[in-house]
Amino acid sequence: MNKIITAPALLKLRNVRRRFRLGETSIDALNSISLDIHAGEFLAVWGPSGSGKSTLMNIVGLIDAPTAGEVCFGEQATGGMDDDALTDFRARHIGFVFQNFNLVPVLSALENVMLPLQIRGGAEHKARELAAAALRDVGLERFKDSLPDKLSGGQRQRVAIARALVVEPKLVIADEPTANLDSENSRMVVDLMREMNRARQVTFVFTTHDPRLLDHVDRKILLRDGSIESDEVMA
Ligand SMILES: Nc1ncnc2c1ncn2[C@@H]1O[C@H](COP(=O)(O)OP(=O)(O)O)[C@@H](O)[C@H]1O
Ligand SMILES: [Mg+2]
Repeated sequence: MNKIITAPALLKLRNVRRRFRLGETSIDALNSISLDIHAGEFLAVWGPSGSGKSTLMNIVGLIDAPTAGEVCFGEQATGGMDDDALTDFRARHIGFVFQNFNLVPVLSALENVMLPLQIRGGAEHKARELAAAALRDVGLERFKDSLPDKLSGGQRQRVAIARALVVEPKLVIADEPTANLDSENSRMVVDLMREMNRARQVTFVFTTHDPRLLDHVDRKILLRDGSIESDEVMA
C-alpha cells in the first residue's frame, strides 16, 4: 500500500480559481484546481513559465486567496479567516523558501535563521540555540557568522531552508528555489529539501520548470495554462 495515499490530507484545494484583472480584461491564472496535499509528501509542481505555479504556491501558502473555491488546512477552512488570523496561522505552520533567497543582508547567517523565532517572541538565547542547530542540519555551522554576500548562492539557499525549518512548520513552500542556481547547486538544494522532508517529516511543495529535478520526488503535478495536466505519484 502506498504511504502517500493513506496519509491524511494536510491541505485540500477544491475547485480553486484565481482570476487577475488587467484593466478591461482579465486572466484566469488557475482554472478549477482540486488537489489534496498529504502530510509528509515531497511534491513538485512543474510546468512552463506562465502556467500558474507561483499563483498556486501563493494560494497553497495562504499568501493569496482564490477568486472561487475552497482551501482547507487540516480541518481549518481558510476562506473566512481575516488577514491577522492568516498571518498568525502562516507564521505557525508554513515555512517559505524563495527564488531570491530573501535573506536580510545586514544580518549574519545565524541571525537570519533566528529571525522567525524572534518575530514569534521567544527568548533570544533559545532562538540562538535552535538557529544554530538548524544551520548545523543544513551543513553550514561554520558559516554562522558570515553575512549573506560572503556566501555562494547554494549556501544562501541552505540558510533560507534552515530559516524556513527553524519554526518546525508542517509545510514548506518553495517557489522556484533553484531558479538562480547552477545545476550542481540546484541538485544539492533539492537533495537537501528531500533529506529534511524525510528526517523531520515536513511536507514540502516546490516548483520548478526544470524536469531534471523531478527524479527524487514522491509526486509531480504538471500545470499547463492554469490546469493540472497530470498528477503522478511515484512508486
Ligand atoms: N498579480 C498578477 N496580475 C496579473 N496577472 C498575473 C499576476 N500574477 C500572475 N499573473 C498571470 O497569471 C499567469 C500565471 O502566472 P504565474 O503563476 O506567475 O506562472 P508561473 O509561476 O508558472 O510562471 C500568467 O499569465 C501571469 O501573467
Ligand atoms: Mg513563477
